[in-house]
Amino acid sequence: MRGWIGFHQVSFHYPDSPRACLRDLEFTVRPGELVIVTGASGAGKSTLAKLLSRFYDPSAGAITLDGVPLDGLPLRFLREQIALLPQQTLILNGTVRENIACGRPGATDTEIERAARDAAAHDFITVLPEGYDTPIAPGTAALSGGQLQRIAIARAMLRSAPVLVLDEPTAGLDAIAARQVVRPLRRLMSGRTTIMITHDLSLAPAADRILVIDGGRLAETGTHEELLARDGAYARLALPPALRWSSSGRTRSSPASAPAPPRRRSAAPSARSTAPD
Ligand SMILES: Nc1ncnc2c1ncn2[C@@H]1O[C@H](COP(=O)(O)OP(=O)(O)OP(=O)(O)O)[C@@H](O)[C@H]1O
Ligand SMILES: [Mg+2]
Repeated sequence: MRGWIGFHQVSFHYPDSPRACLRDLEFTVRPGELVIVTGASGAGKSTLAKLLSRFYDPSAGAITLDGVPLDGLPLRFLREQIALLPQQTLILNGTVRENIACGRPGATDTEIERAARDAAAHDFITVLPEGYDTPIAPGTAALSGGQLQRIAIARAMLRSAPVLVLDEPTAGLDAIAARQVVRPLRRLMSGRTTIMITHDLSLAPAADRILVIDGGRLAETGTHEELLARDGAYARLALPPALRWSSSGRTRSSPASAPAPPRRRSAAPSARSTAPD
């Protein structure tokens, strides 16, 4: 599959809840795009990821992959197309090697090690008491949150699915650990249709589109610049209050936080380039 995702008037309520959790969601993600989904806690962001992997089906509307309704695809095939990094990293009882290999059963040791290197996990794995054969278990304290996240990234690398869904990939990590997962994450995202659910908007300037979910509805959609200019829900999430309330608005185009990463798919020309136009 190429990884073209469509949400068509999708509404959803959990089986045991009368309240609609998602309402009339309508958007598409084209192959290779990065779409960031943000919004308040409880807005329905993780639910959207669960529908995409068919842990639940929409109550109304349809979700398509390359134009095919998800319920028209064999479940196993569908899940091979989607690498999901859930909000809580799933660790299985087994060795580090087995925990990476479950991304693609049958993977060779060489493939596992390559995935671990790409995920910046190889170096800390090799200093564990038994290296790749070190046993780990759910709730393990032997590895830090950032290390567990890099195991999860290695697992997703190995899966090599065209669609990647990241649910809060840096939540719960301190600033140093979060920085350590950014480069492996970017490597993982490269060339894949990526839906990244996050409150951390440091990658937002690099996104092709941002969806702001509020109370289960799509409140706003556009690029980082477009949504800042709108000065609505996204601007309230993205900008510190001091900038938001500045009367001139001139400060708005350059948030005070870290410098914006280059747009993902452009060959960002250097400002110092001496090449003639
Ligand atoms: N299994 C479930 N059964 C019933 N209601 C649920 C279930 N899971 C989530 N909900 C409810 O659905 C709503 C959306 O939850 P969801 O986990 O999608 O929010 P979220 O946007 O991911 O929030 P957060 O930013 O805190 O992760 C919430 O009101 C939540 O209580
Ligand atoms: Mg969530």
